[in-house]
Amino acid sequence: MRNIGVVLSGRGSNFLAVADNVANRSIPDARIAVVISNLPEARGIELARERGLATAVIPSKGKAREDHDREMVAVLKQHEVALICLAGYMRLLSPWFVQQFPQRILNIHPSLLPAFPGLEAQQQAFAYGVKVTGCTVHFVDEELDHGAIVVQRAIPVLDSDDEHSLAARILEQEHLAYAQAINIVLEGNFEIVGRRLIHKKAAR
Ligand code: GRF
Repeated sequence: MRNIGVVLSGRGSNFLAVADNVANRSIPDARIAVVISNLPEARGIELARERGLATAVIPSKGKAREDHDREMVAVLKQHEVALICLAGYMRLLSPWFVQQFPQRILNIHPSLLPAFPGLEAQQQAFAYGVKVTGCTVHFVDEELDHGAIVVQRAIPVLDSDDEHSLAARILEQEHLAYAQAINIVLEGNFEIVGRRLIHKKAAR
C-alpha cells in the first residue's frame, strides 16, 4: 500500500478525482494518507473530512515559507507518504521542502507547459489565442511550474469557447491526467534523462 499525501488550498476537484481513482482502484494499492490545506476555509479540506480522510489545516498566513513547510513536512512524514500531490496549492514550496522528497512531488497545471506558467493559465491561453491548450502534470522542482513533465493532455480551443467553457474542458482533462501521472510515478518504471521522463521498456 502506497501512501499519497494531498496538499491543496481551494475547491479540491483534482483531489476528489484522485480520491475516486484510489477508491475504485484505477490507482491500485494506494491510499490517501492525509490531505493538508494551508487555508482553513478550503472546500477541498471539507470534502476530505466528509470522506473520512485524515486532514490537517496548517495555516500559512504570517509564517515564513520554510517554517510553514517544516510543519507540512512533519505531517507528511508522520503519514509516511510515498508521493505528494499538489492539487491547487496556491503557494510556492521552499527549496528545502522540495529536497525532502526528490521526484516524489507532483503538481498539476492548467496549460501545456512551458506555455502559460503562473496564475490563471487558462485565461492566459484563451487571451493569447492559442488553438490548442490542455494540462500538465509535472514533478515539482525549485522553480515555479517547471519540473520534468510526466503527463500532458491537449484539447482544441473552439471558436465557440469562452474562458469558462475552456477552463471547464481543461479541468476534465486534469482529472484524467492526474490519475495517469500518479500511476506512472508509483509504478516507477521510468527514468529522467535531462528533463525528459522516459518509460523503460518492459522486461521480456
Ligand atoms: C487546477 O486548475 C489546477 O490545475 C491548478 O489549480 C486548480 C485547482 O483546482 N493547479 P481544484 O481545486 O483541484 O478544483
